[in-house]
Amino acid sequence: MPSPGVPVTSKILYGGDYNPEQWPRDVWEADYAAFGKAAIDTVTLGVFAWSYLQPDEETYDFDRLDAIVQRAVDGGKRVVLATATGAMPPWLAHRYPEVCRTDFEGRRHVYGQRHNHCPSSPAFRRLSAALAERIAERYAGTPGLVAWHVGNEYGGACYCDLCAAGFRDWLRARYGTLERLNDAWNATFWSHLFTDWEQVVPPNALSEHWRGPDHTAFQGITLDYLRFMSEAMLANYRDEKVAIRRHDPTTPVTTNFMGLFRPIDYHRWAADLDFASWDNYPPGPREHARMALAHDLMRGLKDGQPFWVMEQTPTITASRDVNPLKRPGVLRLWSWQAVAHGADAVLYFQMRQSKGACEKYHGAVLDHAGRTDTRAFREVAALGAELEALGDAVLGARTPARVALLFDWDSWWAAEITDGFNRHVKYPAVVLGYYRALWQAGAQVDVVPVTADLSRYDVVVAPALHVVKGDVAARLEDVVARGGSVLASFWSGRVDEDDNAFLADVPGPLAPLLGLRVEETDSAAPGVANPVTLRMPDAGGAGGSEQVDPDPVVSDAELVFEVVVPQGAEVVGTYGAEFYAGTPAVTRHRPHGGDGGEAWYVATGLDDTGLAWVVRHLLDRHGLVGPYAAYDDVELAVRERPGADGGVERTTFVLNHGLDAVDVPAHAAGVDLLTGRHVAAGEPLHLEPTDVVVLRED
Ligand code: GAL
Repeated sequence: MPSPGVPVTSKILYGGDYNPEQWPRDVWEADYAAFGKAAIDTVTLGVFAWSYLQPDEETYDFDRLDAIVQRAVDGGKRVVLATATGAMPPWLAHRYPEVCRTDFEGRRHVYGQRHNHCPSSPAFRRLSAALAERIAERYAGTPGLVAWHVGNEYGGACYCDLCAAGFRDWLRARYGTLERLNDAWNATFWSHLFTDWEQVVPPNALSEHWRGPDHTAFQGITLDYLRFMSEAMLANYRDEKVAIRRHDPTTPVTTNFMGLFRPIDYHRWAADLDFASWDNYPPGPREHARMALAHDLMRGLKDGQPFWVMEQTPTITASRDVNPLKRPGVLRLWSWQAVAHGADAVLYFQMRQSKGACEKYHGAVLDHAGRTDTRAFREVAALGAELEALGDAVLGARTPARVALLFDWDSWWAAEITDGFNRHVKYPAVVLGYYRALWQAGAQVDVVPVTADLSRYDVVVAPALHVVKGDVAARLEDVVARGGSVLASFWSGRVDEDDNAFLADVPGPLAPLLGLRVEETDSAAPGVANPVTLRMPDAGGAGGSEQVDPDPVVSDAELVFEVVVPQGAEVVGTYGAEFYAGTPAVTRHRPHGGDGGEAWYVATGLDDTGLAWVVRHLLDRHGLVGPYAAYDDVELAVRERPGADGGVERTTFVLNHGLDAVDVPAHAAGVDLLTGRHVAAGEPLHLEPTDVVVLRED
């Protein structure tokens, strides 16, 4: 059956996690009165309801959830109904100790916390599916039911005997024979030839690891365990989805992801979700590019289909050492940023503050006193009114990206568990560096898996594509053959899907495209810079017609310094220090001469100045530098959908993330959907800090 896709609604949904089982009925009434004041139309119910829905294995008791759901229905709310398996009840662990995880150190845990079931536990699988089935049976067809929310924030890992057995089964299915397994793991190294599947054990502190999860003697084993764990949890999600589908064939099913989250390969999960949703809790107050990257990554999971923000806090989180407030206007700005990047729902954790336990001070729409005259509530209500006024204006609209950024969990895992380079380099930080440069230049970017169709993009950026698998090298070559641009960075093309080095020059299958070989890789501690001078190759020397860049730019490169030998590529940047001073740090290859496109390589950790310079040259070739590229903190994001007249209906979001007001000339004429004001092209747009303009272009 085809996926139902993202829920069909008449406006951007607004509301969030609501757990009224923590307080008496009269408080519910006050809550709903407040929801009305804030135009809150959606509640997510039952995420942590397991222990009251099923007090023991033989007993289900739906009275409380019935009342909670009924109150939402009576209030005319849309309901996102959870399968209640985000946290296990105590009896489950007591009766079946196997449901508790065995940690990386090999310690079997006892009951406590949440998100911590063993994914291989037969008891967990049976009882979670049974609960999901009961819930689906009972609540399918509930008026306003808009989505099913399976589990909660899957993640982590287990190393128990059941998982060990599951790992062996998974390996048998993947490799078929021990010969193939031993080859994949390069098992002749350190005398690891396995002669019986039973000899395989999970890689952890008791076996292959030292100094923690990233230090392993056998990357192949650890990489496979990461893949296995991600798939074992996917099987848990599937158990529940199958149970739901027995009673409800059409309501969209999802689970809440976490953006750039290492333990789960969201690309491998994506096909099983009807739509993507994620929880946006940025680690700091000035993370606008990182949030944009995460939104684009989540949108890329379902080929550009709109996604949901399932959770964000109205004010503070509670789990960090320091939990600063969102400043006035920031909640609104970040919510519009999500919509600008393709969100068709903006939901909170949580509607009312928990009464006790570790999240009792976590931010909420309503505080413990239930006040509606707080700054937080006023901001929530003002945003609710805006979203209501916007109606269906951007629902379903897509991002018209001409730039793709490749994101790859295998490369993330393989690079970060690798010895020999620089442990200070983190895959998401490398990706974010490139993304930020694209974002600041105003490019619309799809963040996609390496299997994505690249034929629709002018520019494809592949940061730290450590693992080169499938036909990605050929597809990148195609981009350049038809005139497009490819940008790759250090650490790319090192290993195959098994994490074994290519028996060839680095960057392996990418070498012909990039026109170079990497001979050595130097590393330095953070803060040790090597100045890289960037200058476009002389037009004459390059055989092209481009202008010579009159002013070279100097970028402080850090952490990784590959020593590059060009094999057809032109030199764009050179190192300024060390024994490789004067050798290439950035190159450009035009394998088809003037007829085709360009393949750039950045062999070192350029700083933001250097990355911006490189990225803008690439974007410029295709006219993709945005109109506000000169303004550091002004973001432009675009959504398009078919218009009534057969044309394209284009809505552009202009967001000021800066700390100062700014005046920019409007990039187009249109109506600001938030104010109704018509703006002429070129007319000054005044944006106070956190201001947003939603321009329906004429
Ligand atoms: C999320 C989680 C919620 C709540 C929230 C607090 O990760 O799904 O249940 O704990 O964090 O920030």
